[in-house]
Amino acid sequence: MNAENDRPAAMDAIFEQLDQSDIASIKGVVSGVLQIISDPTSTAKNLKEIVEIDPPLTARVLFLANSAHYAPRIKILDIMQAIIFVGFDAIKELALSQKVANIFQNGATVGGYSSEALWKHCLATALFTKMIYRREFRERGDNAYACGLLHDIGIIALQQFMPEVFYRILKTAEAENIALTAAEKAALGFDHADLGRAITEYWNFPEDIVQAIGAHHAPGQDPSRLAQTLFIADTVTRGNELGYESRPAVEKALFQTCLNELNINHQAVALVLADVQKEIANMETQGMLSYGNR
Ligand SMILES: [Fe+2]
Ligand SMILES: [Fe+2]
Repeated sequence: MNAENDRPAAMDAIFEQLDQSDIASIKGVVSGVLQIISDPTSTAKNLKEIVEIDPPLTARVLFLANSAHYAPRIKILDIMQAIIFVGFDAIKELALSQKVANIFQNGATVGGYSSEALWKHCLATALFTKMIYRREFRERGDNAYACGLLHDIGIIALQQFMPEVFYRILKTAEAENIALTAAEKAALGFDHADLGRAITEYWNFPEDIVQAIGAHHAPGQDPSRLAQTLFIADTVTRGNELGYESRPAVEKALFQTCLNELNINHQAVALVLADVQKEIANMETQGMLSYGNR
C-alpha cells in the first residue's frame, strides 16, 4: 500500500499517467454535470456554461440536436436553443455520454473484448440503471445514469495505461474461462472495480457513485440501492449480448439476492432489458453509438 493514499502500490503506475491523459479530460465536464444533478436549483444556463467551454462537446450537442432523431424545423445554432429544444435532462445525458465516449479508444480485440463492445456495454448499463430508478423506485436516476456510464472506467484505464498487461489478462481470462476480475486480481492484486473506485475518488466524484463503482462486481461491499442496481444492470447487460467478454456473467445467487433486496421481479427486469435493447439498436441505426477520439 502507498502510505500517503492507501492505494495498492501496483496502481501507482496508472496514477502517474492519469492527470496527463485523455481519461482525465472527462473530469471537468463530468463533475460539472454531476454538480448540476446534485443541485436542484441549477438551470439550463448552468448546463450551457459547462457545454460551451468545450468546443468538441458543443459541436456534438448541436450535431445531435439537429440530427434526424430530433429533426428541428429550423437549424439549431446555439446550446441554449439545443437545451430548450431537446430538453434539460436529455442534454445532461448527452453531455455525459458524449464526453465519456471520448475515452474509449480503438485497441486490440481479444475474444469478446473490444473498446466498442465495452462502450456499448457502458451505455446499456447506464440506460438500464436509470430505467430501473425511474420505473421501480420512481426516482429521476440522474446519478444512476452517470454511474452506469462510468462503472467500467477501470477497464479503460488498464487498457490505456498498461495495454500489454491488460491484453495478457484478457487472454488468460478467455483461456481459463474465468471472470475478468479474477484474472485482474491474480495479475495485479486489484481489479478494475477497485481501480474505478480509486480514480473516481481521486476526482472527488459523489461518494455514492465512487462506492457503487467500487462494488459493481461485489455488491456485498456496498449495500446501497445504487450499488445493487448497478450490479443488476451490469449482470443483465453482460448476460444479453451487451457485454464485453465471451464469458457471460454467472453470479446467479448474488443476482437474486440483489433483486430481493431491491424488491424487483424478473418481469420488470425483462421489460427494462427489452427497452434498453431497443434504445441501443436505435442509437446504432442513427449512428449515435460512435465512440473514441473525434
Ligand atoms: Fe466491471
Ligand atoms: Fe460492466
